[in-house]
Amino acid sequence: MTMQSKSKPAKFEREITETVNGRMGPKVNPRTAELMSSLVRHLHDFVRDVEPTEQEWFALVDFLTRTGQMCSDKRQEFVLLSDTLGISMLVDAINHRGNNLPGGSRHHFQPTESTVFGPFHRAGVSELQLGASIQGKHGGEPTVMRGRVLSDDGTSIPNAMLDVWETDEDGFYDSQKGDDLNLRGIFHSDAKGEFWFKCIKPVAYPIPDDGPVGEMLRALGRHPWRPAHIHTIVSAAGHAPVTTHLFVKGSKYLDSDAVFGVKDSLIVTFVPNRSKKDAAKYGMTTPFHTVTYDFVLKKI
Ligand code: BEZ
Ligand code: FE
Repeated sequence: MTMQSKSKPAKFEREITETVNGRMGPKVNPRTAELMSSLVRHLHDFVRDVEPTEQEWFALVDFLTRTGQMCSDKRQEFVLLSDTLGISMLVDAINHRGNNLPGGSRHHFQPTESTVFGPFHRAGVSELQLGASIQGKHGGEPTVMRGRVLSDDGTSIPNAMLDVWETDEDGFYDSQKGDDLNLRGIFHSDAKGEFWFKCIKPVAYPIPDDGPVGEMLRALGRHPWRPAHIHTIVSAAGHAPVTTHLFVKGSKYLDSDAVFGVKDSLIVTFVPNRSKKDAAKYGMTTPFHTVTYDFVLKKI
């Protein structure tokens, strides 16, 4: 028997990919067949490329096992893995190509760019009146967020829905602390497409790093931090919804977001406001911040 050389892989190593894909039945859904045969090809190429030891392969299986075991109704470690590997933002980019082109082609107004959904959105959030606060009993720097929801033809959209969520002043989402719903709200734009509500100025925070994804980040010499942001999903009849954030201009980590979610068009200035008149208008006490942003949705 001859020794197998690295430059001339054995027949089995070359042919196993076609053997596996050729085993697929004739009635497989065509998209499933496309996805799975590509996945098998890329995984086999990866293995041929890096030639893992058996210990290394078992370590990967163990890592994925623990990633799954870490998942619960409060924790989605696989979403964190997808996010930290840049896969979530790659899927986002592929699915929103039209929105993300500078200049926006046929659009009169550039649709608001999307970014990562993340694992902390929750259902069952209260609908609040315009002007209400999502701060609850939390500390943090009081902020008025206001603006309009527009169609990409420039017309305002009444009754558009804004589903908003953010962390507390210590950088924790409610679900990381218990079952209560906090620092979340659903608002609808008024007849002129305008919205305004009270929240807190977002802070930078680390994504949960006490699990396998945290281990991975440390092994790669990466930090777990996200720049300060507030999440929103904006939706309206006849328009494509957008899942996005507004990032705080000047926040640390804007250039090294752990999940690669920052887009320049989503970085906004939180303006310090000491005007007693403005404070009275919004039912605030000075000082507070104001952030103004018009969301633009693509007509469908
Ligand atoms: C978030 O912004 O809530 C988030 C996004 C991705 C991973 C972890 C958290
Ligand atoms: Fe977040």
